[in-house]
Amino acid sequence: MVSYQFPSTGTLLGALLLLLVLYLLSSGSKSQKEGKEPPGPKPLPLLGNLCAKTYGNIFKVFLGPRKTVVLVGYKTVKEALVNHAEEFGDRDIGPGFRIMNDEHGILFSNGENWKEMRRFALSNLRDFGMGKRGSEEKIIEEIQYLKGEFDKFEEKPFDTTQPVNYAVSNIISSIVYGSRFEYTDPQFTEMVDRANENIRVGGSISMWLYNTFPWLGPFLKNKRIIVDNIIQSRQQMTKLINALLETLNPHDRRGFVDSFLIRKQHDEKSDKKDSYFHEKNLMMSVTNLFDAGTDTTGTTLRWGLMLMAKYPHIQELDRVQEEIDRVIGGRQPVVEDRKKLPYTDAVIHETQRLANIVPLSLPHITSCDVTFNGYFIKKGTTVVPLLMSVLKDPSEWEKPNSFYPEHFLHKKGHFIKRDAFMPFSAGCRVCLGEGLARMELFLFFTSLLQSYRFTTPPGESGDDLDLKRVVGITLNPSPHKLCAIRRS
Ligand code: HEM
Repeated sequence: MVSYQFPSTGTLLGALLLLLVLYLLSSGSKSQKEGKEPPGPKPLPLLGNLCAKTYGNIFKVFLGPRKTVVLVGYKTVKEALVNHAEEFGDRDIGPGFRIMNDEHGILFSNGENWKEMRRFALSNLRDFGMGKRGSEEKIIEEIQYLKGEFDKFEEKPFDTTQPVNYAVSNIISSIVYGSRFEYTDPQFTEMVDRANENIRVGGSISMWLYNTFPWLGPFLKNKRIIVDNIIQSRQQMTKLINALLETLNPHDRRGFVDSFLIRKQHDEKSDKKDSYFHEKNLMMSVTNLFDAGTDTTGTTLRWGLMLMAKYPHIQELDRVQEEIDRVIGGRQPVVEDRKKLPYTDAVIHETQRLANIVPLSLPHITSCDVTFNGYFIKKGTTVVPLLMSVLKDPSEWEKPNSFYPEHFLHKKGHFIKRDAFMPFSAGCRVCLGEGLARMELFLFFTSLLQSYRFTTPPGESGDDLDLKRVVGITLNPSPHKLCAIRRS
């Protein structure tokens, strides 16, 4: 279940008492003269008001002494992230994310560094296959390995987490490092398991506490877990990168790392001042792509399989599997098939909507003073675009809290796009891997459903599958087992 790790009660109580005193001493009257601020509950000392009621579509809450503006609903979130992209486009890099990223790489950097790294990563993802046949082939190859893993369980109940994560991780690995790894290779499995642990632990209450009160760090077990994981992952990555460096051939780039190393060498040779292509950006960008590219897609796929076991009438009979059998038959599904599989496509979209795996998006911060929807928001204010409130906005979705693929289907049966479908966020920080993730979800999901019927363990029914989530930076399904029954 939820992995909250608290420090020992004594130290925590002492720390909180001290904090209370400091807070009361420091919380003088900080009036805003610039304009009307968004409404919100009065700040509570200590942990602040974590449970703010909605004060409209834009409100502020205090997490400890830190002011955070929350954006709610499709219209507000889109207006801020898309129409005021510059003002709301910076990343808030709290202490928890700073220890992981050091303000380098893509996810947790800003300014020119972020622009250069994002541009470089995007163009390389394109070169190495995102949205092109290259990735399609890699994914199709990987699906065969994943099926091999599923078959090993011989239709008995198993936890899908590791095989799915390893398969998905191999796609981004082959784009980044130029090759896939065996599921039995400990250096790979440990890397994936650590990345997933960091994402889970990174969203725990104690890391929220750390972000608000960084001096609590030494008392927090979760912070130690993250730091240890980072140290070990860096050692492993250094080994992998050094091996690529030794065999580097500028005329035959194998992946993102090769491209980066070539650019780095080029900048060093031409004595380019202030180049962004240095060691730290390489390590952080690789980590970002690997972490962001594994847990998110793996988690979504696992939600998809679980929802199929929960709702067998959608999976089988006249639905997903009927459509796949009718349109594709026994051959390997390819990206081109998506257009001909409107129901399956709708199920994948609805899975992403309902699973809502990055509910708070990642924190943004205002890059300048901004007046938004009549409210004044100061430069440097944390902004949370509440993606969950977009994906479940009652004014956008007919059945916001149900699994209802018809959200994406015209009554004549064809697929319809929905504006409020925003699991990848929007604006200049929109997920950089959206194209790749969409391709992976489609190919993995369709191929697995073509080959297997996913069921609950014998003696259990869909009602036993709980839609509750395990809290982390992403929302995972709570632990469960499925049976993969061979259809073909
Ligand atoms: C179902 C899968 C995925 C979902 C739901 C997802 C969702 C998101 C979200 C919500 C953000 C934050 C956007 C914001 O700050 O407003 C994000 C950022 C990001 N994602 Fe994804 N993502 C997925 C897959 C991937 C994959 C496969 C990759 C790897 C290529 C990736 C790489 C990134 C990166 C690098 C960022 C940071 C962008 C930036 O700060 O400029 N994601 N993603």
